[in-house]
Amino acid sequence: MRLQPVAGGAAIGLVLLGTATLVLERGTAVTHTPRPVRLSPQAQAEIRQVEARINQIEADSVKRARGSSLDALGELTLLGKLILFDQNLSVNKNEACAFCHMPETGFTGPSSALNMTTVSYPGSVRTRFSGRKPQTHTYATFTPVLHYNALQGDLVGGEFWDMRATGIRLNNPTAEQAQGPPLNPVEMGLIDSACMVYGVSRSQYRQIAEKVWGPQAFAIHWPGDVESVCARPGPASASDPYPVHLTAVDRGLSNRTFDQIAQAIATYEASGEVNPFSSKYDYVMAGKARFTADEEAGYALFRSNSTHCNECHRDGGPGEEPLFTDFTASNLGLPANPAIPFYEESAADRLGYTANRDGLKYLDPGVGGFLAGPQNPSREWAAMSKSFAGKYKTPTLRSVDKRTRPDFVKADMDNGYVKSPEEVVQY
Ligand code: HEC
Ligand code: HEC
Repeated sequence: MRLQPVAGGAAIGLVLLGTATLVLERGTAVTHTPRPVRLSPQAQAEIRQVEARINQIEADSVKRARGSSLDALGELTLLGKLILFDQNLSVNKNEACAFCHMPETGFTGPSSALNMTTVSYPGSVRTRFSGRKPQTHTYATFTPVLHYNALQGDLVGGEFWDMRATGIRLNNPTAEQAQGPPLNPVEMGLIDSACMVYGVSRSQYRQIAEKVWGPQAFAIHWPGDVESVCARPGPASASDPYPVHLTAVDRGLSNRTFDQIAQAIATYEASGEVNPFSSKYDYVMAGKARFTADEEAGYALFRSNSTHCNECHRDGGPGEEPLFTDFTASNLGLPANPAIPFYEESAADRLGYTANRDGLKYLDPGVGGFLAGPQNPSREWAAMSKSFAGKYKTPTLRSVDKRTRPDFVKADMDNGYVKSPEEVVQY
């Protein structure tokens, strides 16, 4: 849905934060001095717990892969799960995709302490943070390939908050999304996509991968220094953009397998385990449960002309899955969130990498930034970049309040500026 940029966001922000010291409209720079991030002992403890849980899930999945005879769907889904929970596929072998997307929180950030403070999660190089909150990836596989809908006069589809995983190349936005984090220096930090392929070739589940993809998947002549090259955090230098030096044919094989890795991840993300459609809402719609009076009133309000929630967070119609998003983007006039460590990353780190050259002046451009940049494949869309400044993909509201305990804090919105659905509604 199209909505005018909201004026007065700062004023509303003040009300929300109560004791806020820094409340900023997007368009205003953060104005304090950079400080290095220090994670609280609680955050550090929670990070260790998440790592341990991921290892446990991975070990259980390896056991399942060995023990049972799965059908083709089961095999491909389990392969995707094994990759999604594999910490060894990051540069320091400490960060699986799941690190920022755990089941118990609806496949978004699993640390209450981080959600409360930094909002974004540390990368495999633990001093690096991205500028955004981990989106939930539940129900993401229903996202269409990014396209312009002439009737709506709007862009629809694509993944990430700024829609940049268009899905055009692989005809699958979820698969294209999965190729981002492994090479993102502030996330899994690999220096070359071939390192991901090499990692899977050395994994405990290599045999399933070969069975599913064929024997060519890892028939690559790895150079003798592949281990040491892949132990170096990315990004690669401009003078040597593919530091795992392969022949052209081996590079082709590696690229193909990298695509298949991404597609396997997407298959898992499309599975019933990730998208169960088993909330109370679903039971009520199926006539198997009833809303309480409060829930009934909330649902009516959600769909009413006074809130318009349902116009963007569509709960579907006949024959449509209730996904609580229409896959368009809007600008809600949300203030910047100076608590995100990305603002402090204006100096080169120990490894010579600078995550955010703009430092405190950084303004997240949302979908407009993607449309104005080199990842946008369409000249027509590039012309729309100004009108998409500050817009973000409408997130699904499924599992938005899923948490492990009542006092577990979740961060809402692309920058975690608000911390609960109640605050969102006030906003
Ligand atoms: C360090 C934390 C982190 C890691 C590791 C990570 N993600 Fe994410 N994920 C995020 C953030 C942050 C976003 C939003 C990023 C943006 O908009 O630029 C995101 C967005 C997504 C989305 C988009 C959802 C949508 O509806 O558009 C999917 C799907 C996803 N991640 C899956 C994955 C997969 C698969 C991996 C591993 C290959 C992974 N993530 C690794 C933090 C992480
Ligand atoms: C004009 C479209 C639009 C309308 C109307 C709308 N939303 Fe949203 N909603 C969005 C977008 C876009 C975001 C993400 C904004 C951002 O991150 O900057 C969002 C974010 C949210 C989030 C945070 C989810 C998350 O994963 O972080 C919640 C909760 C939410 N909306 C609930 C509601 C409710 C309840 C209403 C009605 C009172 C409503 N929205 C009305 C577009 C809309």
